Amino acid sequence: MEFIRTEDYKAMSRRAAAQIAAQVIQKPDCVLGLATGSTPIGIYAQLVEWYKRGELDFSRVHTVNLDEYASLGAEHEQSYAYFMRDNLFSHINIDMINTNLPNGKAEDTDAECRRYDALIESFGTIDLQLLGIGHNGHIGFNEPGSIIPGTHKVALTQSTIDANSRLFASKDEVPRFALTMGMKHIMQAKRVLVVANGEAKAEIVKRAFFGEITPDVPASILQLHPRLTVVVDEAAARLI
Ligand code: GLP
Repeated sequence: MEFIRTEDYKAMSRRAAAQIAAQVIQKPDCVLGLATGSTPIGIYAQLVEWYKRGELDFSRVHTVNLDEYASLGAEHEQSYAYFMRDNLFSHINIDMINTNLPNGKAEDTDAECRRYDALIESFGTIDLQLLGIGHNGHIGFNEPGSIIPGTHKVALTQSTIDANSRLFASKDEVPRFALTMGMKHIMQAKRVLVVANGEAKAEIVKRAFFGEITPDVPASILQLHPRLTVVVDEAAARLI
C-alpha cells in the first residue's frame, strides 16, 4: 500500500487527480471506476480544469460508477447519475454512451445487477478504481458485515442514511436501498485509489488501512490489493 499524506483537501484532490490523469494519458481508452460523495468533488474539478487547459482527452475513456440509489432516476438531483454529469461528465469530452451507472429505477433489480456485472466483465477489468470511504468503512455501498462479490441491492445502514441525509431535504427522503458494485470487481481493478479528508474520517482511515482485515470494515479488505494507493489530508491522517 502506498499511503500519501497531503496538506489539505486541495492538495489531496490534486494528488489523486494526477493519478487519474496519468492513467488517461498512458492509456487513452482506459476504463475508470468512479465514485461519488463529497470527497471526490475536488478531484473532478481538477480534472475538468486540466481538460479545459487542453491537457486531457476523455474521448476514448469508458467509466463505470460504483453505485446508485435504488428508486432514484437519473434526473433526480440526488441521484449519482446527476452528480456525475454535474461534477464531471458535462464538463469534459467524454462520450455519454461510454459512461455507466447501475439503473436505480430498474424494475427487475436482479436483472439490472446481472447486466452491470456483465458490462464490467465485457471491459475485462477496471484500470483504475477511485473510492471514497464511509464513516463505517463502507466502499461504494458495500456495508459492513458480509462481503458480496457481484453487483447487488443493499439495505443502507442507519449510519450511512444519517451521513447522506445532509444532501437531502429531510432524512425521510434518503433512499433506504441502493445498488452497488460488489467487492469482486473492486478488488479485480488493476489499481485502487482511495481518498479521504477531514477529521471525521481519521478513525476509519486508521481502522481500514492500519487495522485488522475484516468484513466488519469493508475498506480493510483493500489492504489485500496489490496496487492500492490511499491519499488523505492531514486531518484524516491525524491518528496515523
Ligand atoms: C456514499 C457513497 C460512497 C462514498 C461515501 C462517503 O455512501 N456511496 O461511495 O465513499 O458516501 O462519502 P463522502 O465522500 O461524502 O464522505
